[in-house]
Amino acid sequence: MALKIEKMGNLRRTNFCGELRPQHIGSTVTLCGWIQRQRDLGQLIFCDLRDRSGIAQLAFDDNTDRKIFEKAFQLRSEYVVIATGDVRQRESVNKDIPTGEVEVFVTELRVLAVAETTPFEILEDSSVREELRLQYRYLDLRRADMQRNIITRHKIVKCARDYYDKNGFLEIETPILIKSTPEGARDYLVPSRVKQGNFFALPQSPQLYKQLLMLSGFDRYMQIARCFRDEDLRADRQPEFTQIDLEMSFVDIDDVTSVNEGFMKYVFKEILDVDIPTPFIRMPYSEAMSRFGSDKPDTRFGLELIDLSEALANCEFKVFSGALSAGGSVRAIKVPDSADKLTRKVIDKLTDFVKDYGAKGLAFTRYTAEGIASSFEKFLSEEEITAIHNLVDLKQNDVLLVVADGKNDVVFNSLGALRCEVAERLELIDKSKFNFLWVTDFPQFEYSEEEDRFVAKHHPFTAPKDECLDMLESDPASVTAKAYDMVLNGCEVGGGSIRINDPQVQERMFKALGFTEDEIAERFGFLTDAFRYGAPPHGGMAYGLDRLVMLMLGLDSIRDVIAFPKVANSSELMSGAPAPVDAKQLDDLAIAIIEKKGENDD
Ligand code: AMO
Ligand code: AMP
Repeated sequence: MALKIEKMGNLRRTNFCGELRPQHIGSTVTLCGWIQRQRDLGQLIFCDLRDRSGIAQLAFDDNTDRKIFEKAFQLRSEYVVIATGDVRQRESVNKDIPTGEVEVFVTELRVLAVAETTPFEILEDSSVREELRLQYRYLDLRRADMQRNIITRHKIVKCARDYYDKNGFLEIETPILIKSTPEGARDYLVPSRVKQGNFFALPQSPQLYKQLLMLSGFDRYMQIARCFRDEDLRADRQPEFTQIDLEMSFVDIDDVTSVNEGFMKYVFKEILDVDIPTPFIRMPYSEAMSRFGSDKPDTRFGLELIDLSEALANCEFKVFSGALSAGGSVRAIKVPDSADKLTRKVIDKLTDFVKDYGAKGLAFTRYTAEGIASSFEKFLSEEEITAIHNLVDLKQNDVLLVVADGKNDVVFNSLGALRCEVAERLELIDKSKFNFLWVTDFPQFEYSEEEDRFVAKHHPFTAPKDECLDMLESDPASVTAKAYDMVLNGCEVGGGSIRINDPQVQERMFKALGFTEDEIAERFGFLTDAFRYGAPPHGGMAYGLDRLVMLMLGLDSIRDVIAFPKVANSSELMSGAPAPVDAKQLDDLAIAIIEKKGENDD
């Protein structure tokens, strides 16, 4: 008998599958969902029925109506059914699932849809390769872990709305089609049909609009805001991502940080039942760099950087002396009790690792049971060796890993990354910890070699510290900003600043960034105009929602907390976006495609 597709008719769900417990025994329930699997034991058929809440076992046996038994016989994985039946005690309890003590003896069964064999099994913690998962994302999202991630994301967003509402914030939407104000990442552009040759940009963040809302007197704003940045992707970056974005009037740094520490406390308690101690420690940027080689230090483990430069000031080893005379430094991390694990072979791998961060090499000393084995001590004097050993307090089985470079950035970046890599390899990280801190006192500017000018480290609307105001023109490199990043376990979960509300300072800032008067008027005119009409002191920040969800769930990739994410080349594998458009669509926009030479050639 062929299986007929039926309608739900008068049947309606009474319970979700995952809800069933012994207290339901004796009651009649109607469940719906997908068949996880069907087991045919001859006289007995069991089906696991799955919905977003979990799994319930449907049972069919000798006492089942023959027509229903026949239907059950034909059920296959991922068929969609609605079933009514009586909840009863299971003969053999399944301790692995919350509904494992009961099953539903089915008295009515309707098949609502059949399914072809899926390209992969719908299993929790699947090892299916990500490309295939993303191509069939709608199936991947049926898996229990993905469902949990997306549901938790919803709950975190709800916590944000609740918390900020309770604290007087208004949720206000800002436009998605905006004016391109290049600064920061590359914009995504949208051509205008009506004003041909003109383009909207998609917002990299609602920054300017939220500041204008403060000027309009809304006092406290928040938004779950979609942001778009055409930049190179990494595990914690997407071209479109979501911020929990907020702004407050009549505040200084302490007001912004305390409201947001409160949010972390609230959301971690609600979602994970974890108590987050507040206030968070604050670490100036310069300290974060010199101790951890990073502006987002992971403080769950030690391995802090040690500066060997002074001890090596008169050293004759070219690698070190060259770095020092070029104005750089020689720094190290000491990995205690690790000489047996950090073998020569491993250190070779670590050398390749630091080279990816621009380091030219990795010098080492291993203090093994047989004595000192070092790649560089042979080039040093006795005194220098003693000085270094004393400085780092080198004990047996310790390993010292050293980077020297004429550029401090290279030393910091490579050792900063190396300390995380080593901690990961040696399993030194307590993954149950949530270590928060604020990194503060960022430089206002950073020098862009590419553009040969200073660019804003945060953005051009960030206020300089009061004591640095006079240095904007004379010594931009020394100006520090009223900016702060919230760092969690080595990841920047959020960042913000107190903004400039004095139009004259804003103008000086644009000029320090190399904009001419005309450029300022053309690009930011609406903002500088607005600020002439009474702008309150204001500041705020934005969280990367995707990163926050990822960290709260202990995951490694933000793709796992986004329903339909993009892959490294910014395409979406399921729909195939981006894709060509019709000639007519291009014509409407007065756009012609010019094929760039070389790009599509072999
Ligand atoms: P910022 O550029 O630091 O600040 O962004 C704020 C937070 O957003 C997250 N984030 C990202 N997440 C995923 N993919 C990306 N490509 C991506 N880029 C950033 C990070 C980051 O901390 N308007 C300012 C905020 C302010 O000053 O109020 C801003 O956008 O977690
Ligand atoms: P060499 O004299 O080039 O054989 O280098 C001696 C040791 O110093 C080797 O272990 C190299 O890996 C290491 N080394 C080379 N350049 C650097 C550098 N910039 N920083 C740290 N170690 C380096």
